[in-house]
Amino acid sequence: MTRLADVPNLIRPDIADLEAYTPILPLDVLAERLHLPVESLVKLDANENPYGPAPAALAALAHEAHYAIYPDPEHTALRRALSDFIGQPIERILCGAGADEVIDLLLRVILQPGDCVLDCPPTFGMYAFDTAINAGNRIVVPRRADFSLDLPAIGQAVATHHPKVLFIASPNNPSGNATPLAEIIQLLQLPVLVVVDQAYIEFTDPMYDALDLLGQHENLVVLRTFSKWAGLAGLRIGYGVMHAQLATHLWKIKQPYNVNQAALVAALAALHDSEHLPQSIAAIVAERERLIAAVQSLGWLQPYPTQANFVLCRVTDAAGQPAPARAAQTYQHLQQQGILVRYYRKPDLNDCIRISVGTPAQHERLLAALRAMG
Ligand SMILES: Cc1ncc(COP(=O)(O)O)c(C=O)c1O
Repeated sequence: MTRLADVPNLIRPDIADLEAYTPILPLDVLAERLHLPVESLVKLDANENPYGPAPAALAALAHEAHYAIYPDPEHTALRRALSDFIGQPIERILCGAGADEVIDLLLRVILQPGDCVLDCPPTFGMYAFDTAINAGNRIVVPRRADFSLDLPAIGQAVATHHPKVLFIASPNNPSGNATPLAEIIQLLQLPVLVVVDQAYIEFTDPMYDALDLLGQHENLVVLRTFSKWAGLAGLRIGYGVMHAQLATHLWKIKQPYNVNQAALVAALAALHDSEHLPQSIAAIVAERERLIAAVQSLGWLQPYPTQANFVLCRVTDAAGQPAPARAAQTYQHLQQQGILVRYYRKPDLNDCIRISVGTPAQHERLLAALRAMG
């Protein structure tokens, strides 16, 4: 019989060695900790849509009659609608509980222990996280100082390490820059599966949309989500678009009911909404430019150009030099006032804060707080 004392020995050694993931604190917990009412918090730390879901999605959720039965494991209605929405055959589309799940499914079908995955930080943390939990070996080719990709170094790393997968977030989180399609096409010539994560594409110049490359390139996967533009982060719904043959393998291993009924009906309604969501996207893009200008005028925050719904800002001292301590302080001071932005303790970003684009009223609170600190 296995005793409790033996349980640690049952754990996969690579999982036992893994550092625990630090999730963000839920709003109610944070509000309690800060002794502030939840409604007063200004949440600009997770790139959510501050205008919320489409009223049609909320109505669909309220009127859905089938919560008591299991959802369609093939997400047929949503995939049909998505097929029209993005102009891709339905066989190429696979939905997940967020784009996050599709990242994990991809790595689960591809990686054997020790297989390499190429990651270009600073970037979205789930590529590293899912590589680790799938016993992969993460190879790092850092982005350049302006956060563009170092194509020659990527080519070198592919030749040396033979990674099976290369992750490119475009627009990239947290830097906000998008990768030109000419560069994606160059990367697609390499012997590697190129996963282009376009979680923020709805806020981006359409010239960066990688979907049309799928017809020509079998080694391309494009990721999308309803978390950002559609205001459905809490329902967990995203999708991957990939060659039908690759999709077949993901279908085999996914949990049958991976996307819940609420997410399915809300996402479907979002695709048919032609008012609220297009207007909120336009408002976010317009407000993004105003936020950049306002932040820049403070003199000690240097915003990077962005194609997403967030702005990465370098925090500088009086001499214009990067100031990690001031960045940490700014994050803390804002948090104490109930204004939440993202701060990274990592060496390559410890002098930065990332601000999600909010409403004009949220920005007023943020800017007043920043001015008081300046
Ligand atoms: C680049 C990128 N990809 C994917 C995701 C996750 O998307 P989802 O909420 O659909 O899992 C995020 C969320 O922050 C992201 O920044």
